[in-house]
Amino acid sequence: MAKNKETFGYTITVAFVVCLVCAVLVSVAAVALRPLQDINKQLDKKKNVLAAADLLGEYTISNAPNNYIETTFDEKIIIKLVDVASGKFDTTKSPEEVMSYDQKKAAKSAEKLDKKIDIAQIKRQAKLAIVYVVNDVDGNLEKVILPIHGYGLWSTLYGFIALEADLNTVIGLGFYAHAETPGLGGEVDSDAFKDQWPGKKIFDETGVMRIEVTKGGQAQNPTHQVDGLSGATLTTRGVDNLVKFWLGENGFGSFIVNLKNGDA
Ligand SMILES: Cc1cc2nc3c(=O)[nH]c(=O)nc-3n(C[C@H](O)[C@H](O)[C@H](O)COP(=O)(O)O)c2cc1C
Repeated sequence: MAKNKETFGYTITVAFVVCLVCAVLVSVAAVALRPLQDINKQLDKKKNVLAAADLLGEYTISNAPNNYIETTFDEKIIIKLVDVASGKFDTTKSPEEVMSYDQKKAAKSAEKLDKKIDIAQIKRQAKLAIVYVVNDVDGNLEKVILPIHGYGLWSTLYGFIALEADLNTVIGLGFYAHAETPGLGGEVDSDAFKDQWPGKKIFDETGVMRIEVTKGGQAQNPTHQVDGLSGATLTTRGVDNLVKFWLGENGFGSFIVNLKNGDA
């Protein structure tokens, strides 16, 4: 006799089995793809380091081949850790520890920053920060790339600012992760915004920080000011704040002075 498939129990059983199979498939895919996702994240970060430092050669951020990114990064970039408070390179970690250092994770166990100084709204700051150094063939400093992050309107923006050896002239700035609105705050990724950064000076002749991202359409000083995003004043303010935080005394300020004096 044929089995009756139109019972309540049969329907529930089929629905349960379908759910179970789907759940197992999704879980297996998530776990199996995790290493690949991590590799792609690392590659994307490397690409953004090279882009900020103008080291993509003939390529752009959207068409640079993976092997070019890996090779150029390995050839040119030296990864170091800096003690943020002293502004000196950390020499206590082995190369393997430096390579596996997770600054985000380290920040989670750091003390809360005082709200008055936390203009980038990062809440907690790791004692050690990663920096990327590029030396010339004689071993002299050529470029330094500093990771920066801070809150915009909807999200924390993560990116890099690269400086020339004078530790004052910007080579480039770019973000590799954020969740600002496409077309509004998301325009931080636009060429129009990013193209304004190369050549800007962080400090004036007396060493006072002058770099500023103004409200959209209000930049007047071509040496120090970057024009913000129209219709996205809050993201613009976030970028202004995070740049000032990381280049200032509570960020890489001491490191910048030490590196300039050959004393990092
Ligand atoms: C759906 C939606 C998304 C928005 N996304 C952003 C954003 O990503 N960044 C931002 O600064 N402002 C964003 N805004 C606008 C802000 O709410 C605010 O109006 C704006 O930052 C003010 O900029 P303005 O003074 O240049 O007009 C968004 C507004 C809406 C309605």
